[in-house]
Amino acid sequence: MDAANASALGLILNEILTNAVKHAFTNGRSGHLSLVVQGSDDHGTIRICDDGPGMPSAAPGRSIGTSLITRLARQAHAEATWEDNAPGTCVTITFPQTGVGS
Ligand SMILES: Nc1ncnc2c1ncn2[C@@H]1O[C@H](COP(=O)(O)OP(=O)(O)OP(=O)(O)O)[C@@H](O)[C@H]1O
Ligand SMILES: [Mg+2]
Repeated sequence: MDAANASALGLILNEILTNAVKHAFTNGRSGHLSLVVQGSDDHGTIRICDDGPGMPSAAPGRSIGTSLITRLARQAHAEATWEDNAPGTCVTITFPQTGVGS
């Protein structure tokens, strides 16, 4: 992806990883955090999964972090989706892949 969108992606990753540390591995709880990066001809995905307690089922109302992820993703022509990891949470970022120099 081009540099302008890459900086947005960096901020998105920072917020997702901060959320995992803050909400999945809270109070020194240990666990697993995985980050998988895949690319195809036209798009890339980054999938970050934790095995924490999962997102609260009753939506607590989005705080600044989640709103920031959604807004930055839109700005970078990317998409962020949340899924249950049973147990835990997976967040997948899908973004358009641009060729070098395009
Ligand atoms: N990986 C996760 N595991 C469990 N719960 C999560 C995870 N990520 C987010 N959450 C839940 O979603 C809520 C909203 O997340 P969000 O990042 O918007 O807010 P926050 O982290 O509480 O505050 P901040 O605005 O500082 O980011 C959190 O309060 C938490 O309950
Ligand atoms: Mg947060």
